[in-house]
Amino acid sequence: MRITMIGSGYVGLVSGACFADFGHDVVCVDLDDKKIAALGRGEIPIFEPGLDRLVADNVAAGRLRFTTQLAPAVADAQVVFIAVGTPSRRGDGHADLSYVHAAAADIARALSGFTVVVTKSTVPVGTGDEVERIIAETNPDADVAVVSNPEFLREGAAIEDFKRPDRIVIGLEDERARELMTEVYRPLYLNQAPLLFTGRRTAELIKYAGNAFLAMKITFINEIADLCEKTGANVQEVARGIGLDKRIGSKFLNAGPGYGGSCFPKDTLALVKTGQDHESPLRLIEATVAVNDQRKRAMGRRVIAALGGSVRGKTIGVLGLTFKPNTDDMREAPSIAIIQALQDAGARIKAYDPEGMGMARTLIEGIDYASDAYDAAAGAHCLVLITEWNQFRSLDMKRLKATMAAPNFVDLRNVYRRRELEAAGFAYHSIGRSGDGDDQVREIAAE
Ligand code: UDX
Repeated sequence: MRITMIGSGYVGLVSGACFADFGHDVVCVDLDDKKIAALGRGEIPIFEPGLDRLVADNVAAGRLRFTTQLAPAVADAQVVFIAVGTPSRRGDGHADLSYVHAAAADIARALSGFTVVVTKSTVPVGTGDEVERIIAETNPDADVAVVSNPEFLREGAAIEDFKRPDRIVIGLEDERARELMTEVYRPLYLNQAPLLFTGRRTAELIKYAGNAFLAMKITFINEIADLCEKTGANVQEVARGIGLDKRIGSKFLNAGPGYGGSCFPKDTLALVKTGQDHESPLRLIEATVAVNDQRKRAMGRRVIAALGGSVRGKTIGVLGLTFKPNTDDMREAPSIAIIQALQDAGARIKAYDPEGMGMARTLIEGIDYASDAYDAAAGAHCLVLITEWNQFRSLDMKRLKATMAAPNFVDLRNVYRRRELEAAGFAYHSIGRSGDGDDQVREIAAE
């Protein structure tokens, strides 16, 4: 298959490289000539485990190319994917579709012969209709089938998620697209990932409904964690206890500082707006958005409370800045609101993150950066673990404590055991695990 990917950002690049790896002939297009030149030299603009290798191998095999020239790439393609950004529009939270609309018009002008045009970007329900209208208006002779094929990959596990998805959702209104889309995904189909064919609007909604449900699940366990703290229960045991019920499922029940990233915050907000526009309010998601927003800053107050009510003049060592491990992405990371709350209260912040410090510098002012976890601890009155990078999972507690100004540890990801940290002389605070119960779940899990 000849596939063209419009947009070489996160989704476009991962999908393009994976399609090439399936054996398809793939061209990735982007307007940013610096990005395209860098990709041509084998430099990957994002941090994603395994992506550099995948790109290099497929470029070497002649199956993957990069270009700024949209027109010839579209004219040659059987299937054109739109994988451009859909950021939150400033002011109202709706998804900003200007890049999608511009791509549709550019594609329309370049089409030659029957072509399947697929939106892979996360777009509000009804966008496929709009893409179809723009193409027809720009080029009345165009022969296209417009398809919705949302992407469910997670940052940090993107290649694995792409190659071993739980399902592939394909929304179409024109049956001619079915065969080509089946061909595009044949390698996965052979791997037995179910291809779910739906109407186009349904496919668009599946993506938002899925992300909103997951965001709600996380927010639910976060609120249960708060209740656990007040009542002496253990949230990890509650999560295990409810998660074993197959109707609930055990995943996405890790309590923490709130969800962040490039998808959940933006998509939940956009879905709320869609609901309001259609006079079909999504009150559970509205509450999820509000609770999660408040939680991030509340985590800052929790650190202040752990230090006896004041952090003025004190140094807080922060471990982890990115919204989750294995990414350099800082978008909507809880660390931003937590650090701001601490800075507002007069604290000095010394932070370390294995990949996120570059982006952090552009988002948060006034942070001192450390060279590793031990450096972040030196002179600190408290260590706050915000992102559960593997390298923070087995820190030498005695070594950390030796250079700290006071032995406080706030573990916002429940990585450590109370017993262990107290034995090393720390005052230990975690999420939803009051009392000694926090060790029990590990023992059950180890069985
Ligand atoms: C998410 C979806 O998982 C993916 O399907 C979609 O395509 C894009 O959005 P991503 O944003 O990369 O992927 O990260 P994910 O691993 O889902 O985590 C999102 C946020 O939720 C992170 O801040 C993470 O720390 C948080 N989270 C996740 C929890 O706090 N607890 C959990 O149990 C799971």
